[in-house]
Amino acid sequence: AETYRVGLLGHGTVGAAFEQLLAERADAIAHITGVRPEVTGVLTRSRGDFEEILAGSDLVVELIGGIDPARDYVLRAMRAGKHVVSANKLLLASHGEELWSTAREHNVQLRFEGAVAGVVPVIRVLQETLAGAHVERIHGIVNGTTNFILSEMARGGTAYADALKRAQELGYAEADPTDDVTGKDAAAKMAILARLAFSTPVTLDQVTYEGIEHITGEDMNYARDFGLALKLIGTAERVDDGISVRVHPAFLYPGHPLASVNGSFNAVTVESEAITEITLSGPGAGGPQTASAVIGDVISAMIPPASTPETTASLPVVADVKSAFYLA
Ligand code: HSE
Repeated sequence: AETYRVGLLGHGTVGAAFEQLLAERADAIAHITGVRPEVTGVLTRSRGDFEEILAGSDLVVELIGGIDPARDYVLRAMRAGKHVVSANKLLLASHGEELWSTAREHNVQLRFEGAVAGVVPVIRVLQETLAGAHVERIHGIVNGTTNFILSEMARGGTAYADALKRAQELGYAEADPTDDVTGKDAAAKMAILARLAFSTPVTLDQVTYEGIEHITGEDMNYARDFGLALKLIGTAERVDDGISVRVHPAFLYPGHPLASVNGSFNAVTVESEAITEITLSGPGAGGPQTASAVIGDVISAMIPPASTPETTASLPVVADVKSAFYLA
């Protein structure tokens, strides 16, 4: 098949996982799209030239993180007529309107499923499934690192510092985990969700946030004694005169859909009168998990929207398979 040239900016946890996973899945993707995606250029701090990579690619994947130089690269790529896939929550939460209007102007796609909740498809749901819904409220656990730390602390024994170190080793945390533990990373993600849900400009600096740095063993004991879960919760909701977007630790009653979301998993509930509520949950952080969302975005950019590709396999549908266990 013909090659679909992907220029990759950034080669950290997600960038490296993306390059590997795309190579592994390239043939399968070629069956779906008719063209074979291949990373044809990589830009890191020490190698690669942006102009060269841009000229040699059909689509640019931005996984550098941070505002500069990511913003400039994304804008230049779109102005050159390239689709862009980014997982950069900070960039979208700070300069989203400029980026989205540039995408519209140049008639290119800017996709960012990986920017919020890893591979949990919440961006698609807001942009497509619920595009016509009047969303009232969103609650989310949208930072895997802090959810992992709180889950470890709740299980007992593991101290904050040890749990954070483990989250870094597992590739959940940001390069500088300050953004995770202060709630800033979650705040950026809630700004993006609020923007999509309410169709109003929302930037990170409008989000009030508090992190988990001050949570003590005593808070954990209190939660346990009352059968509650202590979570870092993001909220975006309509209020009398506008909207409120905030992130702070909260106690959840045991039946709450977010109460049993543990480890690096993320979950988002979206409420509106017509749909009552939906909850999406799954892996919210980590290299291969986030890279999977990025690959989905690349494929979406390659194929016409909402087409159902031809089958690529003819697997037997097996009868008489018994479930080994049932969930209550
Ligand atoms: N550091 C982020 C987290 C990575 O822990 O959720 C995913 O955006």
